[in-house]
Amino acid sequence: MRSVLVLGGTGWLGRAIVRELLAEGAEVTCLARGESGSVPDGARLVRADRRSPGAYDEVLRDWEEVIELAWEPGLVTSAVEALADRAAHWTLVSTVSVYARNDQPGGDESAALVEPADLSQYPDAKVAAERATAARLDSRLLIARPGLIVGPGDPSDRFGYWPARFSRTGPALVPTTEGRFVQVIDVADLAGWIQRAGKAGHVGVVDAVGAAIPMQEFFEAAVDVSGYDGDSVTVDDDALLAADVHYWAGPRSLPLWLPLSDSGFAQRSGRAYLDAGGTLRPLRDTLADVLADEQARGVDRPRRSGLTAAEEAAIVSGVT
Ligand SMILES: NC(=O)c1ccc[n+]([C@@H]2O[C@H](COP(=O)([O-])OP(=O)(O)OC[C@H]3O[C@@H](n4cnc5c(N)ncnc54)[C@H](OP(=O)(O)O)[C@@H]3O)[C@@H](O)[C@H]2O)c1
Repeated sequence: MRSVLVLGGTGWLGRAIVRELLAEGAEVTCLARGESGSVPDGARLVRADRRSPGAYDEVLRDWEEVIELAWEPGLVTSAVEALADRAAHWTLVSTVSVYARNDQPGGDESAALVEPADLSQYPDAKVAAERATAARLDSRLLIARPGLIVGPGDPSDRFGYWPARFSRTGPALVPTTEGRFVQVIDVADLAGWIQRAGKAGHVGVVDAVGAAIPMQEFFEAAVDVSGYDGDSVTVDDDALLAADVHYWAGPRSLPLWLPLSDSGFAQRSGRAYLDAGGTLRPLRDTLADVLADEQARGVDRPRRSGLTAAEEAAIVSGVT
């Protein structure tokens, strides 16, 4: 039975990874405060705040696999200091946000990284976390750099905005799609791959991304899966920005909409992920799963990302 320590395991992705490990039959221990949630049944939770002295005392033993999900460099560094010599293989969950440029379609793992300056910034912190881990783990380390992770239960409410929106009636506000792409990885594909890649001892750096899909095709699939029969209202970037609509995520945003100058962000190469045994389920399957989850959670609930129905209606009436 493989012994796996998950540094995390109480968040959305971490729980999905733990479920895959348990399905394999691994013995899974999670180290977390328990503030983000519980761990799946069958895993053991060791409660500790990794900022506190002695946080790793209860997990100081040999592990066949350690999986790190945190992004604060202080947490990542303390874990490496405590456990690097005890792990046969280590997986660090990083992000494609580590890349310095987002304007080059087709970029791969060899692209230049952000130079860490302000560690309170996510990309800087992730690069610092990668470097601190690589310095100690070297040939035992897999760095997984996921793109936008999507699927049922996504706490960020980004991807789900679109199937939820198209499941409602009335004119739907959309950005222009020319030159725009959507690139996602289903949480189930990612979690399954992280479990298998660790078991196989895969090392190196892998961008865990799906296919780059033209945004127009993405909208057509979301419309189809959601059964939307209303009219979309396409508004150009200047008008959206003038109406105080935000890019990408958060309140009053059009999720997944990025400046055209960043269109390389959603067109990274997924070659290494496929070569490393990564799987990609069809976009429509993910959309259907997410739509069901959105309907169960309530499509009119307050959400972390997107426009409310009232905001959307006010913007549509202002621009038409
Ligand atoms: N969402 C995306 O689209 C996306 C894209 C690319 C990469 N990623 C990466 O994917 C990962 C997502 O992980 P996730 O969904 O499992 O959730 P998360 O909330 O990002 O994971 C953080 C984990 O670290 C634990 N943690 C945080 N502070 C701690 C502390 N002081 N002491 C002990 N444990 C602490 C949390 O547990 P407690 O709060 O219970 O302590 C939680 O389990 C992250 O590495 C993120 O950067 C996400």
